[in-house]
Amino acid sequence: MNVTNAQFVTSAADPRGYPELSLPEVAFVGRSNVGKSSLLNTLMRRKGLVKTSSTPGKTQLINFFEIQVAQRPYHLVDLPGYGYAKVPETERRRWQERIETYLTERDTLRLVVVLVDIRHPPSEKDHQMVQWLDHVGRDLLVVATKSDKLSRSKVQQSCARIRKVMGRPVMAVSSPKKEGIPPLWKTVLEALTAP
Ligand code: GTP
Ligand code: MG
Repeated sequence: MNVTNAQFVTSAADPRGYPELSLPEVAFVGRSNVGKSSLLNTLMRRKGLVKTSSTPGKTQLINFFEIQVAQRPYHLVDLPGYGYAKVPETERRRWQERIETYLTERDTLRLVVVLVDIRHPPSEKDHQMVQWLDHVGRDLLVVATKSDKLSRSKVQQSCARIRKVMGRPVMAVSSPKKEGIPPLWKTVLEALTAP
């Protein structure tokens, strides 16, 4: 998929800070360190546009990016990670509220990509997130990150396990190896361009 332009728009803690320009949007959620920001860089093919870190809790605000595909603008949104144990409880609750407010109130949001680490069974938090998104009526897609960390057969096994726990299809991706990116782009773009 050809992204001809990608740029950072703004960071926001709450709806007052969201971009005014209303464009179709796809957001990326998942626990801290799962690889949300890395995947956005890979999708937008802009190394370093989104800040990543090996220390969990890097992304604390909601970050909006504008991309151009086939001469049309869209937003991709990087959300703070949930469930990072080392962040103080009050702070964690504040991020959680930020995420939930965005996910419930954002009218232009078309699809939520829920990321889970392919090496681990989905956590209780991941499961809750999927159920909650279903409950509030959001379209969602489960994506397993870091597929480069496992052998091909283990990738299949792990995806089957995640699919069983989450009760829905799973796509596996690797940001450094760029694996699984075209089918993910296809689904994201379908959501962005749906009438
Ligand atoms: P927070 O902003 O803290 O919520 O984290 P995040 O989900 O945005 O994760 P981020 O993209 O910052 O990546 C966390 C760490 O995992 C970094 O060290 C990345 O280099 C690494 N990482 C991300 N995606 C992949 C992947 O597909 N494969 C491998 N091997 N490492 C990855
Ligand atoms: Mg991040």
